Amino acid sequence: MRTVKLGNQGLTVPAVGLGCMGMSEFYPPEDETSALQTLDAAYEMGCRFWDTADIYGPHTNEELLGRSLRGRRDDIVVATKFGIQRSQEDSAFRGVNGRPDYVRACCEASLRRLDIDCIDLYYQHRRDPDIAIEETVGAMAKLVEEGKVRYIGLSETDAENLRRAHREHPVSALQTEYSLWSRDVEAEILPAVRELGIGFVAYSPLGRGFLTGTIQSRDDLQAGDWRLDNPRFQQDALEHNLQLAAKIAAFAEDKGMTPAQLALVWVLAKGEDIAIIPGTKRIKYLQQNWQAGELQLSAGDLAQLDSLAAAHTTAGGRY
Ligand SMILES: NC(=O)c1ccc[n+]([C@@H]2O[C@H](COP(=O)([O-])OP(=O)(O)OC[C@H]3O[C@@H](n4cnc5c(N)ncnc54)[C@H](OP(=O)(O)O)[C@@H]3O)[C@@H](O)[C@H]2O)c1
Repeated sequence: MRTVKLGNQGLTVPAVGLGCMGMSEFYPPEDETSALQTLDAAYEMGCRFWDTADIYGPHTNEELLGRSLRGRRDDIVVATKFGIQRSQEDSAFRGVNGRPDYVRACCEASLRRLDIDCIDLYYQHRRDPDIAIEETVGAMAKLVEEGKVRYIGLSETDAENLRRAHREHPVSALQTEYSLWSRDVEAEILPAVRELGIGFVAYSPLGRGFLTGTIQSRDDLQAGDWRLDNPRFQQDALEHNLQLAAKIAAFAEDKGMTPAQLALVWVLAKGEDIAIIPGTKRIKYLQQNWQAGELQLSAGDLAQLDSLAAAHTTAGGRY
């Protein structure tokens, strides 16, 4: 598996990591036993860049990873995030917080739940518009100084904020959505990370599962699935977006890949500084996604895929 150097501070990860969010929340059904087996399988195959966040679960996803990390923690790059608040009582979203004391409290809580001494890559999940980024990143830098965090990252931010953050302390990675149906990062974000020498981690590279062709109607999503409230999965938008999914499926078949693999190969081909974290709780999907890291498309195929995606305007916002 090829590796990706995220930033210039020394963090190297396999190009294909594992998004663990859906193991605990958002894409039901959850099943801890199979999730732990999937984490074991990921470890065995070398997929050792695991992505979580304090709010997934909420909070239980980090604990799940903590159980799986025991005895092999040093072999895995653990990435987690802070900054979005959720209520302890009913899990409701309670806004963002980038205050230095909150950053520290979150880090200590994540370390406890993950049952580790140091987070490899610690991201600010979402920016707090009421707190200067320098203050938040300053607090993250102190955690690095104290050995509680190795590298820092941001998620879903604009180029200007990224520049300011990077001036305060070197940022190793920006994590943002990127896939055949979410290409807005191409305009300003990817040029900015490249100019600054920051790595890029593409989340939801499978379009939250849509690009795999397994979601053909809202009936394919169980009650409680987060996607049922997402604009792209509303009836009219879904019907429109299915045209893209069908084209991807046909293209993939022609290339002897699964649609999921085609979608992942396309993102990986966008740059050697890009790592992907496709999410799954199933070993079968994990294997397919991992294999995608070894597959290639010709320049002609990639150009064709680019124009196919560009010709299709995605209906519905990302959130
Ligand atoms: N920074 C942020 O704000 C942010 C936001 C969202 C996500 N993330 C991170 O990014 C990770 C990945 O994103 P995501 O999980 O939202 O979306 P994704 O990776 O685009 O898609 C995940 C969905 O695709 C399905 N799937 C995975 N591999 C498949 C395959 N080979 N064939 C068919 N279906 C397949 C999964 O099914 P099963 O669930 O049934 O396995 C799941 O429903 C998350 O786990 C999380 O760690 C970060």
